[in-house]
Amino acid sequence: MGEKVRIGIVGLGFIGTQKHLVGLSQHRDRCEVVAFCDFDIERAQAGRAQWGNEDAYTTTDYMELVNDPSIDVIHVCTWNANHCEITCAALEAGKHVMVEKPMAVTGADARTMRDTAKRTGKKLTVGFQYRQREEYQFLKALADEGKFGEIYAAKAHATRRRGVPIWGVFTDKSKQGGGPLIDLGGHSIDVALWLMDNYEVASVTGVVNYKLGDKPQGNIGGQWDPATYEVEDSAFGFVTFKNGASLFVEASWALNIKAAREGCITICGTEAGAETVQDPNGSANLVVDVNLIEGGKQVNTGFGEGGAYFSAGGVGGAQNGFAYMGGLEAGLWLDAVINDTEPYVTADQAVVVTEILDAIYTSAAQGGKPVTFD
Ligand SMILES: NC(=O)c1ccc[n+]([C@@H]2O[C@H](COP(=O)([O-])OP(=O)(O)OC[C@H]3O[C@@H](n4cnc5c(N)ncnc54)[C@H](O)[C@@H]3O)[C@@H](O)[C@H]2O)c1
Repeated sequence: MGEKVRIGIVGLGFIGTQKHLVGLSQHRDRCEVVAFCDFDIERAQAGRAQWGNEDAYTTTDYMELVNDPSIDVIHVCTWNANHCEITCAALEAGKHVMVEKPMAVTGADARTMRDTAKRTGKKLTVGFQYRQREEYQFLKALADEGKFGEIYAAKAHATRRRGVPIWGVFTDKSKQGGGPLIDLGGHSIDVALWLMDNYEVASVTGVVNYKLGDKPQGNIGGQWDPATYEVEDSAFGFVTFKNGASLFVEASWALNIKAAREGCITICGTEAGAETVQDPNGSANLVVDVNLIEGGKQVNTGFGEGGAYFSAGGVGGAQNGFAYMGGLEAGLWLDAVINDTEPYVTADQAVVVTEILDAIYTSAAQGGKPVTFD
């Protein structure tokens, strides 16, 4: 590896530009984005202009990056259905890979990606940046200190009342593999498993609903097109673990609930619990409550100034949130690549998240019969 890590990026849509380029640009002393690839060449060119390196090249063919011996790392920021193909091609060519979440559409593909990384000796990580939120770093530190005791029950909340994404290909099943469950569910499941520090799944039961796809009114950002809406609008899952712990999963883009609860978790331990909800005032911050018994009384403690509100690095607002989380995520990834250490989000952990998502869809498809894990 040269003085700076040489990176190629595939997919210059929302996340490629708003998280990856913004995050990597906070580490220009250690990295350089040298190749920009998108099916849409104008997006590739816009990405290069955003990064500001005129010597970088643009292409519509990701194999150009894969076959470029000067590239050390490839970031895969494309539609879900081609994460596996591009990641494996890059790993086989000797590149380290950061792939966007969900790692893959199926558990089998995720395992293939992990196994390819292990065989080739290259690093693989997945873009679960919610771990970098200060709220979750705070809860993780408490969990690691043993403040919660044994976390034996948890919930992964990934619900929107009406929040169907109307850009990109999110409602196209062949390109994304599913709807809100695969899109939003993974972040909350990832945070819950990481706080529980439990990746030993025993069984998964799931239900998937197609009830509101033809009712596009009231959607944040405008109506979706019911004619092209192919995915579920909500999904629910129940996961049991080998040590008896459990995780409830809820995900929706459209559901008749009062308030959205996206990127949130509930954890219940033998010593204390914690819950996060979205800020009811609409900022990008989460309200954090830690629930425990102290001095014989029920006590809720929050974090941050004056109570439960916790400001994510003082930045607030979704875009700033991506810059904040993306900057930390990119820095930790570069640390792993440069120092030859394990990535912060490991492929083994991300495989379990995809296996749970896949098993919820599979259980639902077989009428709610549980999927058992070995
Ligand atoms: N981490 C997060 O919070 C987060 C947020 C949004 C999206 N995502 C994930 O990021 C990925 C992309 O989502 P998005 O919102 O940026 O979508 P998008 O549609 O805005 O961008 C995807 C881009 O990839 C390009 N593309 C697809 N396949 C390609 C290929 N084989 N070769 C070259 N270019 C290709 C498309 O032309 C498009 O420009 C998805 O997997 C999504 O789940 C993650």
